[in-house]
Amino acid sequence: MPDRYAVIGHPVAHSRSPWIHAEFARQTGQDLTYEAILAPLDGFAQAVRAFRDAGGRGMNVTVPFKQEAFELSEVRSPRAQQAGAVNTLTFEHGRILGDNTDGAGFVRDVEENLNFALGGRRVLLMGAGGAARGLLFPLLARGVAHLTIANRTVSRAEELVGIARAAGYRDVAARGYAALSGERFDLVVNSTSVSLAGELPPLPPGLFASGALAYDLVYGQGMTPFLRWARTSGAGRIADGLGMLVEQAAESFWLWRGVRPATRPVIERLARELPPVD
Ligand code: ATR
Repeated sequence: MPDRYAVIGHPVAHSRSPWIHAEFARQTGQDLTYEAILAPLDGFAQAVRAFRDAGGRGMNVTVPFKQEAFELSEVRSPRAQQAGAVNTLTFEHGRILGDNTDGAGFVRDVEENLNFALGGRRVLLMGAGGAARGLLFPLLARGVAHLTIANRTVSRAEELVGIARAAGYRDVAARGYAALSGERFDLVVNSTSVSLAGELPPLPPGLFASGALAYDLVYGQGMTPFLRWARTSGAGRIADGLGMLVEQAAESFWLWRGVRPATRPVIERLARELPPVD
């Protein structure tokens, strides 16, 4: 009997994770199955336990359950603690272990796939929700020179800055979008949900330092308004979140199986099927 894994979310039918993990399994010769499970909005914990009790070994967790997964986890990794959310569950000796591979996936995509070293960079993180929180410590731990968090609701950005400061990081600041005027960044990351609505936060011109990278966490949307804006506003390079999607999956796969799949061919195949970003 192959080991069973799944992604759980609501909605979940659009998820690329079953395809990605099937590719990883084929590539590494691992004997496993990976399915998609739609949980009712009020039935997450029940669906997780049912999968575990049926012999499931682990799950990826997607929108909107990452916080509930954090609460359900009996043991939380340091990465999960720092993100305040869980995207990877492992069932071991009857216990539910929670980890978060999103930040590691982002860092790996930026540094390995896009060949953009984060150390010493000036970084702008747009948004202060769950997605931004997941990137906060991974970015800081890579030794960025300065991190600015910009958000429509500035108090939420200030909260994240408070969390970073409490952990000893000093070079962090919170701003509203208008207050970014006159500042320049090497990396600008859009973690807001505006791309999904086809919108763009009110960004002032002149944000990009020479050769800067603009990164939108969403994927499969083609050119988002943010990436379109970045391309005509001085960004040297643009990228969407497809690479991060595959890298966070690879990190989960490694946690579960102890084998690291090759991500590049998987990213390339997915990119061929999805609308291009440039
Ligand atoms: P997620 O878990 O995906 O980060 P979230 O916690 O709901 O989702 O956060 C959504 C982010 O998108 C927030 O930073 C939000 O800004 P506010 O904190 O001010 O709400 C941002 N966002 C959503 N719609 C926006 C809009 N129309 N303009 C600017 N920012 C927006």
